[in-house]
Amino acid sequence: MGFEQVDEILDKYRRRHEALIGMLQDVQRLENYLPLETLQYVGKKLEVPLSRIYYIATFYKSFSLEPRGRHIIKVCLGTACHLNNAVQNLEQIERTLDICEGETTEDMMFSLETVNCVGTCALAPVTVVDDKYYDAVTPGKVEKIISNYSGEAEDTKGEED
Ligand code: FES
Repeated sequence: MGFEQVDEILDKYRRRHEALIGMLQDVQRLENYLPLETLQYVGKKLEVPLSRIYYIATFYKSFSLEPRGRHIIKVCLGTACHLNNAVQNLEQIERTLDICEGETTEDMMFSLETVNCVGTCALAPVTVVDDKYYDAVTPGKVEKIISNYSGEAEDTKGEED
């Protein structure tokens, strides 16, 4: 990745140090994680010590320093979702993708995470894929949800060659 997009993000926030968390959130959206060389670049451009950036990137659970899949699946395990069988949904996703919570599929298409409430408890149990919310999820709906995204590997194959 070139750093032009990172520069655009820093400019958007006028390189203000107090906006560092917002900048890192936007930077993470570029590749779904924060590569070390990108953090070094941000630190150099903002004249902020890498240790401070690293502290923020490791303090907030929403940041990842490890490569993640193209799509991030977040299964809500907050109280309302838990009471509505969210754990069974999580287990079904794990079986379908053959990964455990916190892992990424070998083809780098999906990462699976859990969260503690996404703020739509009335629609429980909720699963979020990237920015799309799926409500009243059941184990039977899991494969359909995943299939909305898994065809992309074939669709984009030619573009990546
Ligand atoms: S507990 Fe799942 S959306 Fe609130």
